[in-house]
Amino acid sequence: MVKRPAGWAGYCAACALWAGAVAAAGATDPGDVHLQSWPQLRPALAADPRLEARIEALLARMTPEQKVGQLVQADIGSITPDDLRHYPLGSILNGGDSAPRDDKLAAPSEWLALADRFYDASVARVASAGLPLLWGTDAVHGDNNVPGATIFPHNIGLGATHDPELIRRIGEITALEVRVTGLDWVFAPTVAVARDARWGRTYESYSEDPQLVREYAAAMVTGLQGAAGSAQFLDAAHVLATPKHFLGDGGTAGIDQGDNRGSERVLRDLDAPGYGAAIGAGAQTIMASYSSWQGLKMHGNRALLTLVLKGRMGFDGLLLGDWDAHAQLPGCARTSCAAAVNAGIDVLMAPQSWRELFDNTLRQVQAGEIPPARLDDAVRRVLRVKLRAHLDSEGRPSSRPFAGRFELLGSPQHRALARAAVRESLVLLKNRNQLLPLAARSRVLVAGDAADSLARASGGWTIDWQGSEPNAAFPRGETIFAAIEHCVSAAGGSATLRPAGDFAARPDVAIVVFGEHPYAEFKGDVPTLEYSPGDKHDLALLRRLRAAGVPVVAVFLSGRPLWVNAELNAADSFVAAWLPGLEGGGIADVLFRAATGAVRYDFHGRLSFSWPASPHPPAVDGQPGEPPLFSLGYGLSYRDGGELRALPEN
Ligand code: BGC
Ligand code: BGC
Repeated sequence: MVKRPAGWAGYCAACALWAGAVAAAGATDPGDVHLQSWPQLRPALAADPRLEARIEALLARMTPEQKVGQLVQADIGSITPDDLRHYPLGSILNGGDSAPRDDKLAAPSEWLALADRFYDASVARVASAGLPLLWGTDAVHGDNNVPGATIFPHNIGLGATHDPELIRRIGEITALEVRVTGLDWVFAPTVAVARDARWGRTYESYSEDPQLVREYAAAMVTGLQGAAGSAQFLDAAHVLATPKHFLGDGGTAGIDQGDNRGSERVLRDLDAPGYGAAIGAGAQTIMASYSSWQGLKMHGNRALLTLVLKGRMGFDGLLLGDWDAHAQLPGCARTSCAAAVNAGIDVLMAPQSWRELFDNTLRQVQAGEIPPARLDDAVRRVLRVKLRAHLDSEGRPSSRPFAGRFELLGSPQHRALARAAVRESLVLLKNRNQLLPLAARSRVLVAGDAADSLARASGGWTIDWQGSEPNAAFPRGETIFAAIEHCVSAAGGSATLRPAGDFAARPDVAIVVFGEHPYAEFKGDVPTLEYSPGDKHDLALLRRLRAAGVPVVAVFLSGRPLWVNAELNAADSFVAAWLPGLEGGGIADVLFRAATGAVRYDFHGRLSFSWPASPHPPAVDGQPGEPPLFSLGYGLSYRDGGELRALPEN
């Protein structure tokens, strides 16, 4: 675990450590590491001589084509089961925008049917030397590409719950729902320690606190895979997890796929602990990062991928490349990259260019550009993971125990857990005159353009990559407005949806739901932390309602903490709701009292990211920034006063 330097002021653990470490870094050559300084870890599963003997037997029978096939991963948008007859690939994925028949609203049964077709093709004839292929998906907050699945809050909201056991159960349910559609591999959890919220992937990070990320990494891997060493481990109710993106993606000064300039110590003590914990919990696959360290792309960093991860950290599973990320190495292209394999990537993610990549990799193997020992090591790792995941004995996807049990997707029990996670994730930043909790029997005006939108509440990686589907794309789910209306009308109150906040009769209270529009990856990078710099209509709405004498509750949807001083000033109560997903009921549960007047649920969420006091991030280039407005761990409860001084708006 990372030690906090003496005098640590309670804010931005990352910054303080980072600053010290950058100063101590000296001149580290790119790719150079002090291997002995990395803790020697052990994988969760001890080497099993019988398993290894089976791997050797399989390997001995494999042709070079079959071996190379294990190293290449294609996207279902550009490969058909029939292609496997000529290209014996070891795995496939569906990218954020890929779905059966290229229809993102394809029914869950179509996913399962497609899984069967790929499975059948992969075990027929030449493919995979008798071991079926794996299919991986970005189930990063539930099985989020499948309409009807349970959607959990994005990781930033889960960070605020500070509840590893909740994370484990979310992993368990996500695994089960993925299993319903016949897939066996999930590209999650993201264990990035994000420390500049301008980064578009901040919401995929649990926290800027490495200790929390560490606990969650182990909990999520255990939930997805089952406990390492137990009978549940990778059984038919569980899936392979993929901690990502190794290493240092959270430290690139807010730039996606950018350069992490931190020292080796920072990488080791701040970015790496999540991986150590995940490996300790039995993680079998890890995804490499698009980002660089000290100017060198991670996909080409043999020291970190091979010597550190596979050596010191004891990782004996398969290391997956990210989406065409190998193409960013000098001398490489999407269709060709021996350098990534030689650096330690075992499986190259080549969504569309898999065919040419296969041909070129085969040539590189035959020419000795990829040494035979490296090829065999990569193949062994893939086979090891497949055997540990019981792919040899599980049978067709649809024949497995939970496959086709579509009633489990978004089942009432699963959604109840998601709703509880929403409740636990909410952070109350301000509560003037203890306006909250509200009486259920109130006349509520629900305003703000996000109040009735499931996409706005869910963010990126929902149904598709960027996540902006209309409500009709979600067979299950309750918008925040619908949930409020449900709650107050049951108690004899009323709720009216007026996105622009206009009203005829003055309501008792207005709840304004507003915030960021969905984004994923680099599309979400922003230059400053100011909320909505070009468009202040939400602020105007809050002010208008207050000026009309209506008490205002702000419910802020965002994938990161943002500078919202003016909005905080303009609201009586302010709730950071992150990206809660489809269970708006979790928000109504906390905002409203029971019909009897009793408090039903208090706020338990506490910040897992420091909240900025200015548009500038708390730390840039290793320099500690300004103190935050709210420190890590901040969050009010109903018993707290809840006043906030007027904040500077310039
Ligand atoms: C992302 C990964 C993701 C992969 C597959 C990449 O662009 O960086 O996190 O798993 O795509 O969708
Ligand atoms: C895919 C994502 C992927 C991204 C990479 C998108 O088209 O859907 O899965 O992460 O491309 O840039």
